[in-house]
Amino acid sequence: MNYGSFDDNSREYVINTPKTPLPWINYLGNKDFFSLVSNTCGGYSFYKDAKLLRLTRYRYNACPMDTNGKYFYIKDGDTVWNPGWQPTKTDLDSYECRHGMGYSRFNSSKNGVSASLLTFVPMSDTCEIHKLSLTNESGSDKEITLFSYVEFCLWNAMDDMTNFQRNLSTGEVEVIGSAIYHKTEYRERRNHYALWYVNTDIESFDTSRDDFLGVYNGPDCPDAVKNGHCTGSVASGWYPVGCHEVKVSLKPGETKTCIFILGYCENPDDDKWEEKGVINKTPAKKLIEKFSTEEGVDKAFNELKDYWATLLSRFHVDSENPHVNRMVNIWNQYQCMVTFNMSRSASYYESGIGRGMGFRDSCQDLLGFVHLIPDRARERIIDIASTQFKDGSAYHQYQPLTKKGNSDIGSGFNDDPLWLIAGTSAYIRETGDTSILDENVPYDNDWSVATTLFEHLTRSFNYTVTHKGPHGLPLIGRADWNDCLNLNCFSEHPGESFQTFGPSEGPVAESIFIGGMFVKYGKEYADLCALCGKTDEQKRAEDEVATMEKAILSHGWDGEWFIRAYDANGNKVGSNECEEGKIYIEPQGFCVLSGVGKETGEAEKALRSVEKYLDSKYGIMILQPAYTKYHVELGEISSYPPGYKENAGIFCHNNPWVSIAETVLGHGNRAFEIYKKTCPSYLEEISDIHRTEPYVYSQMVAGKDAKFFGQGKNSWLTGTAAWTFTDISQYILGVYPTLKGLSIDPCIPSDFGDFKIHREYRNASYDIEVHTNGSEKGVKKLIVNGQEISGSTVIPYDENVKEYKVTVEM
Ligand code: BGC
Repeated sequence: MNYGSFDDNSREYVINTPKTPLPWINYLGNKDFFSLVSNTCGGYSFYKDAKLLRLTRYRYNACPMDTNGKYFYIKDGDTVWNPGWQPTKTDLDSYECRHGMGYSRFNSSKNGVSASLLTFVPMSDTCEIHKLSLTNESGSDKEITLFSYVEFCLWNAMDDMTNFQRNLSTGEVEVIGSAIYHKTEYRERRNHYALWYVNTDIESFDTSRDDFLGVYNGPDCPDAVKNGHCTGSVASGWYPVGCHEVKVSLKPGETKTCIFILGYCENPDDDKWEEKGVINKTPAKKLIEKFSTEEGVDKAFNELKDYWATLLSRFHVDSENPHVNRMVNIWNQYQCMVTFNMSRSASYYESGIGRGMGFRDSCQDLLGFVHLIPDRARERIIDIASTQFKDGSAYHQYQPLTKKGNSDIGSGFNDDPLWLIAGTSAYIRETGDTSILDENVPYDNDWSVATTLFEHLTRSFNYTVTHKGPHGLPLIGRADWNDCLNLNCFSEHPGESFQTFGPSEGPVAESIFIGGMFVKYGKEYADLCALCGKTDEQKRAEDEVATMEKAILSHGWDGEWFIRAYDANGNKVGSNECEEGKIYIEPQGFCVLSGVGKETGEAEKALRSVEKYLDSKYGIMILQPAYTKYHVELGEISSYPPGYKENAGIFCHNNPWVSIAETVLGHGNRAFEIYKKTCPSYLEEISDIHRTEPYVYSQMVAGKDAKFFGQGKNSWLTGTAAWTFTDISQYILGVYPTLKGLSIDPCIPSDFGDFKIHREYRNASYDIEVHTNGSEKGVKKLIVNGQEISGSTVIPYDENVKEYKVTVEM
């Protein structure tokens, strides 16, 4: 069943009922100020860091689901309703939510009044705008009372939810006219406050939650709204909120518009006050001045629209397949931008207080983002590398505000270092900017030991070289890509973290997955060495890669597929010898995409085993058979019930690895079949089963062993976004940036038909026309600006040529 439809021309998903199977959300904000907004106006906002600088409260695990947001109550006689349906849940005469690129729109109506609400975060200001227009569509006058409601978070979201003995006494506000200022802790160590403003005169306001809602009410039935007026409460401690009461008189046919601004305002430490106890409102006044007119808001909104139109024009495909077109041209790229901004910090599944930015996550997010805004990718690479340790290992996560490594989780995830090579290599292949390798970058943020970024990559590479186990394969440490395969943990008590319990550096447990990664990124490291003229280092890297390939084929091959790992006792994990968990997806994907066993036949066999044992109608499962009991020697993986998460779920992130692997072997039909199974647009029709948004990827879909096979969870913040974009754009459609120029080598299903691609690459534009001639793979002819290129699929980059017209015959 569908709950909406794609409007590709407007780049929007149009939801036509508030009762979606789960909240279907959108992200607002590009750089510093961010918000989550659901299709019923739920969500919250933060500045830079969802844990440390949260502006408004949200309750995870809430019941009913998704009941805190920025709400507008329309009181029309005895009827009270909200444009997004929640929280009153009054039946609406019409409802529509349009999630677009960095904005959401709600159009709804009740009893002859229609509401149109536009919500977005402007490009260059630290605020969120709500432009609300009410129209009287009835034949008689309407006297409406409009109430706004936001609940402030006392900044540190963790403290806000736990430290009540303190924070029920710290809340403070100021109210001047229509502007409500939330200034908790401003008197001491903070130099920031929040603004909640409306551009019209108000009848009254409330800033105490108890007074607006009533102590025993929720936002679904505030006392103030029921009574028709706010109380003028000024919060002192307890729960500060921001509520306006606005009278709106509408003649038949008349429309009135109110603009609400939720702003984050910061002052220099030595200029915090206007006078004793009165905050300096200069930054708030600037926001008010800029956005209190419709012209100001419309201008900012058009800037946002133009920004996205320009960004998305950097890669555009025109094929016969509408799913591919809309995912590639709109939603997949959009999701890549969101994962780049958020890493795994804040979603409806990630609480915003747990993880911050992941080292491996952010490096992988770069793969899908770097073609959009290379400058920000460059900055991110430096930030990530600055959290690396001197020996090449890395903090697993860091906090976006402080950019410091998170010592709670620490290091010891032995795949982390290699992802830095992946991200940096993608950046240089995209931009040709080798100067990044000469940047001076600290270790663990300590400038006294800084070296070039190139040296960071060398240390990443060497980390694997110097951390091998008994079979010459990489030691796994606390975990590799699969955070839940904890072979050195042996946890027996609930509450112990599988990721931090036990010795991090077991000397025995090895990962064939990291081996595959080492082959892939070791080769990319060697290519970078060659590019920089470091031929000795290139040779050393190639030798190490060859040694690793040999170790994988001798000790990591099980006969029909690649083994996943050796545990701390030296026993195989993911082998035919095992009772459960005989075959895992990760080493099949990564070893084959790295080319391991391509010439000698293991690669082909491994992929056929994936098809035979791991495939399902909703995607490829992470392992089979599922673990039915807890294996203390394997860690978290077997703690999940069969079919969920890493225990035989369809972990969407690694499906594109197998699809890419199929393209490496030239199997376009199969590569695309895999692509299709997890592609959100294809899943739209089974939204009842899938439940999560049909416009973005989810981290996980329940596998066949689960009770709810096919059900998605943890949408939005997943490496799936970047990897699927890499898969479809670089391997299936085949436009792959190399160090020397763009390579065009598609691997598509035989019935895909001809297609065109527009690609911006290093200050030049490429218009590519592919005649597929029913072929799955193989370029027969490549003509660039009238000249045929032979012997290679790479179009050498020439900085003097700004336009490339490319024709490909397959
Ligand atoms: C983490 C990734 C990890 C994956 C598989 C995700 O939740 O963010 O870093 O690779 O789970 O365990």
